[in-house]
Amino acid sequence: MRKAILLGAAALLATVSMARADGPNPVEIRQTGFDLLSANFAGIRAVAAAKGDVKTMEASAKAIVRFAALLPALFPAGSDKGETKAKPEIWSDNAGFMKAAAAMGAAAEKLAALAKAGDADGFAAQVKEVGAACGACHKEYRQK
Ligand code: HEC
Repeated sequence: MRKAILLGAAALLATVSMARADGPNPVEIRQTGFDLLSANFAGIRAVAAAKGDVKTMEASAKAIVRFAALLPALFPAGSDKGETKAKPEIWSDNAGFMKAAAAMGAAAEKLAALAKAGDADGFAAQVKEVGAACGACHKEYRQK
């Protein structure tokens, strides 16, 4: 019985790793995601600086919340090689990395609530908090 389970697990793992070898490169997926995240955040910052209608930014803030939740999964084991700036600490201190992702999610959650409330001053202040969350993770987990 136990042997059957182990064999099943081994077959599943083999399938998963084959799917990965054939599928898109995880480094490219996450870098593309970060490019989109960055462009989205630039739009958020521009609206805050121009004192525009922050209510229009709720969906953009919520997209950051979703990306933050997904972020740890974009760094599967073995994706530390190739054209990547991911530091080894992502895997050796994975709890810290997950905390840094969650911090961005929490900051963006607040940003979405301020956008929904149409609180322009609060929104502008919270944009800085989200930016700080990007910077904090890059400092520890991204190569220069
Ligand atoms: C939890 C950690 C973490 C958070 C939070 C985070 N980043 Fe990153 N970011 C990384 C890592 C690690 C890389 C390097 C990825 C690679 O090269 O494989 C990266 C790469 C990037 C890149 C380069 C992508 C490319 O094309 O190579 C940009 C731009 C970027 N991040 C912007 C942001 C912005 C803007 C935020 C905040 C809104 C943010 N990041 C939040 C960890 C993070």
